[in-house]
Amino acid sequence: MAHMDVAGIRKVFELARSLKNPVNLSIGQPDFEVPLPVRNAAKEAMENRKNGYTLTQGIPELRETILADVRKWYPHNNDRGLVITSGTSGALTIALCCTVNPGDEVIIFDPFFVMYPHFVRLAGGTPVFLSTYPTCTIDVDRVRSAISPRTKAILVNSPANPTGVLHSRESLRDLALLAQERRILLISDEVYRAFAYDAPFVSPAEFNPDVLVVDGFSKSHAMTGWRLGFAHGPQRLIEEMAKLQQFTFVCAPSIVQHAGVAAWQFDPKGFANDYRRKRDLMLAGMRDRFEIVRPGGAFYLYPRVPWGTGTEFVAKAVEQNLLILPGCSFSQQDTHFRISYAADDLTLERGIEILNKLARR
Ligand SMILES: Cc1ncc(COP(=O)(O)O)c(C=O)c1O
Repeated sequence: MAHMDVAGIRKVFELARSLKNPVNLSIGQPDFEVPLPVRNAAKEAMENRKNGYTLTQGIPELRETILADVRKWYPHNNDRGLVITSGTSGALTIALCCTVNPGDEVIIFDPFFVMYPHFVRLAGGTPVFLSTYPTCTIDVDRVRSAISPRTKAILVNSPANPTGVLHSRESLRDLALLAQERRILLISDEVYRAFAYDAPFVSPAEFNPDVLVVDGFSKSHAMTGWRLGFAHGPQRLIEEMAKLQQFTFVCAPSIVQHAGVAAWQFDPKGFANDYRRKRDLMLAGMRDRFEIVRPGGAFYLYPRVPWGTGTEFVAKAVEQNLLILPGCSFSQQDTHFRISYAADDLTLERGIEILNKLARR
C-alpha cells in the first residue's frame, strides 16, 4: 500500500466537497442519465429475483450478445472468449494478475490512466513508463526500444484518459504487429470506444488475434457506479481470468448484468454527438491561451500549463473555485492539467472564463 499515492487526486475531491458550488471539471464520468430502458431492465431483474450469484463468466444472455458482435467485428478470430467483469477495472485487475509474474515489466504510455501503475504493481510487476510528450501519440519505434526480455505486456488506451487522444489506425496496427512479433500481450483498454469523434474507432484486435480487450459500460452508458465490464481475447487467457474471478470478485452484479443486455442494445451515439460538440466548445474557448493536443475522443482535454507546474496551476484554479486535476496524477511529469468536459454547457463556459483569466497571470 505504501506504493500507492492517491494524495493528489483525493485532495481535489475533498476540496470539491468543501467548496460551495464549484465549477467542477475534474470528474471522469458522464453527466447524462443512465438510459431509461437500462434502468427499467435493472428494476425488472430485481423484481424477477435475479439477485443471486451468476456464473462467474457472466450470464449467458449478456455474454452471447456481446460475443456475437465481437465475432462479427473480428471474423478472422473465432477463438475469442469473453468474460463479464466487475467494471473495466475488474477486467484489468484479473488480466494483469493472470499474466504478470514478479519482476515482469509492463509498458505504459505516459500520460496514463491513474490506475495502470497500481494494477501492474499489485500483480508484482514493474511499470515501464514511455513518455509520449509532446504529441501524446504512439511512436512504435520507441516502444520497440523499450522492450526488454522481461516485458510481459503493453497497455494501450484509445481514446485515451487523460489526453482524449484517439490513436491513429496505423499506430495501433503497428503496435499490434510489434506485440505479435515479440510475443508480448497487448492489452487494449477500450472503455471510451463510444466516444471517437475525428475518425472511426479502431481496435488493435483487428490486426492481432492475441490482443486482450478490456471494456465496460461505465462511460458509454453513464453506469460508473453499476460496475459492469467485460474482457475478450484468446480463449486460454479468458479461461484463466474467469478462474481468478471465481475466487475474487465471484461475478459482476447480477441485476446489472441483466440490465447490461438492454444497455448493449442501446446506441449511445446521441451522447457522443453531444460530447463532440462540448469538445469543440472547449477547444474554441481555450484555443488562444493554451497549448492543447487535439483530443479526438473521450471527454478530456490535457492542456499544457501556461506557467508554473501543473500542481501550482491547479492550486490557483481551486482558489478561483475551479476544480481540475494536475497532470502529475497521470504522468511522471507535472506540466499539464486535465479537464473533463462531461458537464453542462454553463459549467463549461464558466470554466473557460476562469481558465483564460488564470492563463493571463
Ligand atoms: C482509461 C480507463 N480505463 C478504465 C477505467 C475504469 O472504468 P470502470 O468504471 O469500468 O472500472 C477508467 C475510468 O475512469 C478509465 O478512464
